[in-house]
Amino acid sequence: MPPSASISSGMPAPVTLRSLFELLGGRLDEGLQADRPAMRTTPSPAGHVALVGAGPGDPELLTLRAARLIGQARVLVVDHLVSDGVLDLARPDAERIYVGKESGHHTLPQEEINALLVRLGREGRQVVRLKGGDPYIFGRGGEEVEALIEAGISFEVVPGITAACGASAYAGIPLTHRDHARSVVFATGHRRAGQDALDWSVLARPQQTAVIYMGVGQLAAHCAALIDHGRGAGTPAALVENATSPQQRVVTGTLETLPEIAAQAGIRPPALLIVGEVVSLAGRLQPVRAQSAEAVLAG
Ligand SMILES: C[S@@+](CC[C@H](N)C(=O)[O-])C[C@H]1O[C@@H](n2cnc3c(N)ncnc32)[C@H](O)[C@@H]1O
Repeated sequence: MPPSASISSGMPAPVTLRSLFELLGGRLDEGLQADRPAMRTTPSPAGHVALVGAGPGDPELLTLRAARLIGQARVLVVDHLVSDGVLDLARPDAERIYVGKESGHHTLPQEEINALLVRLGREGRQVVRLKGGDPYIFGRGGEEVEALIEAGISFEVVPGITAACGASAYAGIPLTHRDHARSVVFATGHRRAGQDALDWSVLARPQQTAVIYMGVGQLAAHCAALIDHGRGAGTPAALVENATSPQQRVVTGTLETLPEIAAQAGIRPPALLIVGEVVSLAGRLQPVRAQSAEAVLAG
């Protein structure tokens, strides 16, 4: 299969999104006050931390609750994969604390991020902890919530669209399909020192889509491991870089050819590896540019 690349664009201007949420703001406030956090500890006078999934990039993929909380927050604690379009929804006077997390370049170690959230909560701040994608998928959200519970800080978790779902939709690769994949498995290519290797025999199962996060640096090794554990060398495979953003690029090939194709294209993180027959649908199911928020509002 020849290498292919596509770029999706068409994000609305942030100002339009902002006004959409401002328009909805009053009603959302009324509607959501009553159904406050589904997950929280005993209310603490010390403050509240909302772990908010910022999605994979396109700010229009935020949930309404995420957009409202971001717009109201006085302090935001932000990971490096959170897009500028999402941050544009924050109040101009909101304090932004960047704790970025890039493999090998952690701005703050996880323990210090946990301690920061606890400290802000104890100071009585209403905190939005913004995390790329979904907070509970390879996002260390569980570790942060454990620290908040231990400290007795009130919290909630707002789910976000995980990168695999964003990449799937914007690259035209359905993760399941009755003809091609009856299961899908998400794995991380990043391991802690001393941690066991991935269970490649599970990832290499037939009639399954495997999505590997944080695997660009190990792409050749991952493709080889899948072949060694029974996936055919000709199995379709794709890398989706900067999924759902205007910079999105998709390269496709097979387990055998993708490492070379990706190297030639200069694919870099953040990117996802998607392996399975569903990748062969990418050309046919390429989405037509979505309507922008302006068009929707204009009727
Ligand atoms: C620390 S994990 C965070 C995952 C996030 N919690 C989620 O649910 O998507 C970071 C990895 O997610 C993937 N990722 C996140 N955003 C992405 C995007 N816009 N395009 C492609 N991959 C992305 C990449 O594999 C990246 O190395």
